[in-house]
Amino acid sequence: MLEKVEAYKREIQEFKVENAEDLERYRIKFISRKSVVGELLGRLKDVAPENRRQVGAVLNELKNLAQDKFRALIDELEKQKTQQSSAPIDLTLPPVQDQLGSLHPLTITLNRIRKIFERIGFSVADGPEIEDDWHIFSALNFPENHPARDMQDTFFIEKDPDIALRTHTSSVQVRLMEQKKPPLRAIMPGRVFRNEAISARAHCIFHQVEGLYVDENVSFKDLKDTLYYFSREMFGKDTTIRLRPSFFPFTEPSAEIDISCFICKGEGCAICKHTGWVEIGGAGMVDPNVLANCDIDPEKYTGFAFGMGIERIAMLKYQIRDIRLFTENDVRFLRQFRTLV
Ligand code: DAH
Repeated sequence: MLEKVEAYKREIQEFKVENAEDLERYRIKFISRKSVVGELLGRLKDVAPENRRQVGAVLNELKNLAQDKFRALIDELEKQKTQQSSAPIDLTLPPVQDQLGSLHPLTITLNRIRKIFERIGFSVADGPEIEDDWHIFSALNFPENHPARDMQDTFFIEKDPDIALRTHTSSVQVRLMEQKKPPLRAIMPGRVFRNEAISARAHCIFHQVEGLYVDENVSFKDLKDTLYYFSREMFGKDTTIRLRPSFFPFTEPSAEIDISCFICKGEGCAICKHTGWVEIGGAGMVDPNVLANCDIDPEKYTGFAFGMGIERIAMLKYQIRDIRLFTENDVRFLRQFRTLV
């Protein structure tokens, strides 16, 4: 009997499992009620009484060994399973992309505009999106029956007195001149609203950046120099500008700002519609009536102003062909700006 015990001990110690069936085989042989260990224990009563104690101790030891090993085998099988389930590491696979967010292209564009103007002493001012008629139109010298006041363009919120969503950031010029006196030098970025049909090139909600410089002896040359500096910083050193005569009620003289097409370098392409020039906004010398409306002496002070579309600038800079992309929040579009700040 003791020889058998020794043989079982060895078998237990050397037992290996590779799968659940192996473990079950072990359990049936050494642990279950009908196990060999159980059988040996059952035969204890046949052992001569004077040896029973000693044999009993040996059998107990065997039973403990079998149980300890059983627990160890379960652990081992568990370990093997988790190792198999974690796929082998393939070092040639591309890394998992991080899911960090990115700045919106309009934010990136505005940050750049802001930095460019900050370098030449412009501060940043802000005003409300819901405005009264005075700040959107009247103070800016719009005649009573000017077409821009028409319901076609303006989202009115209340009538008499007129309250509307601002149609341009020029309203902030008025607020700034009412609050502070010259010298004034600021840009005023913000959201504007126009009752327009939405298409690839137009939207009812977009952004502008207004500029204003009022001081003694501010000249049209200062305006040109400022716009030229901005265009080169924004679109590259080869950029030139062109000011086309135009009309705005709040500036005299007024101009439309064109930049040389930096895509085709003036050769003509789809972006500049084969003209070599692209329009980015309007500008002019602040009309004396506007200064007077804001309690600034037009005899003493002169000023220039400009207004540019931020979407327009971003579309040119990053060659975006549909203005609707800015508001659709499609991550496939937004992710393309991940590396820009
Ligand atoms: N407010 C004009 C618009 O929305 C743009 C503009 C033109 C602003 C000339 C100006 C300016 O400050 O001087 O179309």
